[in-house]
Amino acid sequence: MPRRIIPISSGKGGVGKTTFAVNFALVLSRHAKTILVDLDTGTSSVRGCLPVEPLKDLYHFKRKSARLEDCITTLGPEFDPDGLHSKFGFIASPKNFINELANPDAKFRRELAYEINRLPADYVVLDLRAGLDANVLDFLPYSNSGILVFTPHHPAATIAASEIVKAILFRSLRILFGKGSTFFSLPRMERYYTFINELLDQVEDVYDESIPNLDTFLSQLREALGEHPILHAISDTLESFRVHYVLNMFNGIDQGYEQAVIPFVKNLTDNVSSRLHLTQLGWVVEDPRIHESNRSGFPMVLDRRTPTTKVRPSQPFDPVMDELEKLESSVLGLRRPERRRTDRPVAVKKTETMDLLEGQLQTLKAMYSDRKQDAVRENFSYIVYRALNLMSSSYGPNELGTTQLASPERLLDWYLSRQTQR
Ligand SMILES: Nc1ncnc2c1ncn2[C@@H]1O[C@H](COP(=O)(O)OP(=O)(O)OP(=O)(O)O)[C@@H](O)[C@H]1O
Ligand SMILES: [Mg+2]
Repeated sequence: MPRRIIPISSGKGGVGKTTFAVNFALVLSRHAKTILVDLDTGTSSVRGCLPVEPLKDLYHFKRKSARLEDCITTLGPEFDPDGLHSKFGFIASPKNFINELANPDAKFRRELAYEINRLPADYVVLDLRAGLDANVLDFLPYSNSGILVFTPHHPAATIAASEIVKAILFRSLRILFGKGSTFFSLPRMERYYTFINELLDQVEDVYDESIPNLDTFLSQLREALGEHPILHAISDTLESFRVHYVLNMFNGIDQGYEQAVIPFVKNLTDNVSSRLHLTQLGWVVEDPRIHESNRSGFPMVLDRRTPTTKVRPSQPFDPVMDELEKLESSVLGLRRPERRRTDRPVAVKKTETMDLLEGQLQTLKAMYSDRKQDAVRENFSYIVYRALNLMSSSYGPNELGTTQLASPERLLDWYLSRQTQR
């Protein structure tokens, strides 16, 4: 069973999800067994980015009753002469359009999620499709965003990325406050069913400005319910929610900040909440070689040497790998700050957006002064180390990715048990 399933999503298309997912999974596999699953089942491109032609793919899983783990393709010595990526495998989508895979029904999504939860790997990386329908949402965690990818080149895509965060949180709240939820079996709660759901409708509707975000929703709930444990449960859910993102096609600190970070943070705070915890995992520079390597089906982070070379030089020197391998994760300065208390007032201060933005800018600057010499390979190594750090035991299993893809029916148990554990 995977230690962690890490979905890569973006909301909008063409920002580099697949590029990131492929290279990230390859570098991650240098540390532990990693399987990349192509869940962009309509317009698959993972197989085009990798040099091996799969013998079995999701077609065989769907139509030929193959086990999902039998659809894993590995690189083999021809493309991995030093065995550096011997722990890497991928599950490709079908090469042709197959309707029931391109537009899978809920039953198939559930079967697939069930099998993904059982894949024989430490890490499973999911390359999700663009958009924000059930094909994406069903594969996202409940407690965090997975890894969001966006780019300064498409400011609109940053809004789409923040919409993913909103969708995840609303999915949880809709289940928590949905029909049949045990929440309404609590004393005196049943009568609030309509009230709470109407408030949620208003928050979700961006054209309705009366309740712009979940922070205002909380204030209004507090007015209605007074001090109630559910308020703390919700504000705790918001404050413990983790948003992780990567800037792709990074082209400098100013543009990255102005054209990607600001619109992302502003949309999050205006339309979702200013209580979320954001982590920038790093960036991937814009580099024509990335595009070329995608086109030729040979990822940047793979070593292009042929296996016939007699004396094999070692893997190209990667200063980040080298530096980071010498360091314990605890001295990387990547630990998150102490959690804020959850019982602070629910009213949102105007300055919170500014605080969040300022925090993101400082991270960007600090990373830039440290890492500006890095080339593409090191960009990926750095992000992998950040991710490994966040998935290490010093953080809980809800920090980045998920240990299990859970069905909506299971969410309520999971959600309530999480609240009682706190
Ligand atoms: N850092 C980069 N530098 C240069 N080109 C890049 C970079 N990242 C991605 N590209 C190019 O941008 C295009 C989109 O990338 P990719 O297919 O990875 O995006 P995607 O988000 O997976 O798209 P889709 O939504 O269609 O699945 C590709 O042509 C790719 O080669
Ligand atoms: Mg893609």
